[in-house]
Amino acid sequence: MRRTMVAGNWKMHGTCASVVELIDGLRTLTLPGNVDVAVFPPELFIDRVINGLQGASISVGAQNAAIESRQGALTGEISSSQLVDAGCKFVLVGHSERRLILGESDETLNRKFAAVQASGLTPVLCIGETLEQREAGQTLEVVERQLNVVIDEFGIEAFENAVIAYEPVWAIGTGLTASPQQAQDVHAAIRTQLAKKNSEVAQGVRLLYGGSVKAANAVELFSMPDIDGGLIGGASLNADEFGAIIRAAGN
Ligand code: PGA
Repeated sequence: MRRTMVAGNWKMHGTCASVVELIDGLRTLTLPGNVDVAVFPPELFIDRVINGLQGASISVGAQNAAIESRQGALTGEISSSQLVDAGCKFVLVGHSERRLILGESDETLNRKFAAVQASGLTPVLCIGETLEQREAGQTLEVVERQLNVVIDEFGIEAFENAVIAYEPVWAIGTGLTASPQQAQDVHAAIRTQLAKKNSEVAQGVRLLYGGSVKAANAVELFSMPDIDGGLIGGASLNADEFGAIIRAAGN
């Protein structure tokens, strides 16, 4: 049985003071036992967050990792082995802001995905279509292609230790959420695509939905059969709102 997961992507938000406040807020939450919770702070704050959340049953992940798993001469980057050393469990790979704003290529993302897994961390692979692609009826094609980039290089087994986050680009930070049915349709297509290669992997892999998830729409989204939780941006910066989303996932 897949365990539900709720992950908070803090993106490039936070100051020393606001992060302390957020940690304090997270520590006061009563978390349901059937949901895995993780937060992804800016790398600058990872150590502080891991220390601050000791004993709180919240994992910490990184928003990015280097193309190499081991330490070395690569100015400005952080290797996945360093993230392991710091106490991280997950790394986001392929977020649309990195694909589209920073121009990360499929090749770069694959190297990051491999480096993350080689270090024993779990990649959270983000995929999703732009508004233009959705309007052109290309949603399933785009998502299938993004998954195939990984499958073609590493095989379906790559998803034995990975989480997939479907995040329609038009729904990220816009207040526009995919309807539960729109999201479910894509999630079901993803699972079918994976099942063609290996049904066990397809049944086991967690598919998170991301894109303007809030407490107010979480229950409906998470009630869909192929939605195994959420990747939450803006709403994860408020501990109470994030807590309400986590409780929605636990129901
Ligand atoms: P959002 O971001 O919840 O603010 O839309 C989601 C994400 O980008 O992971």
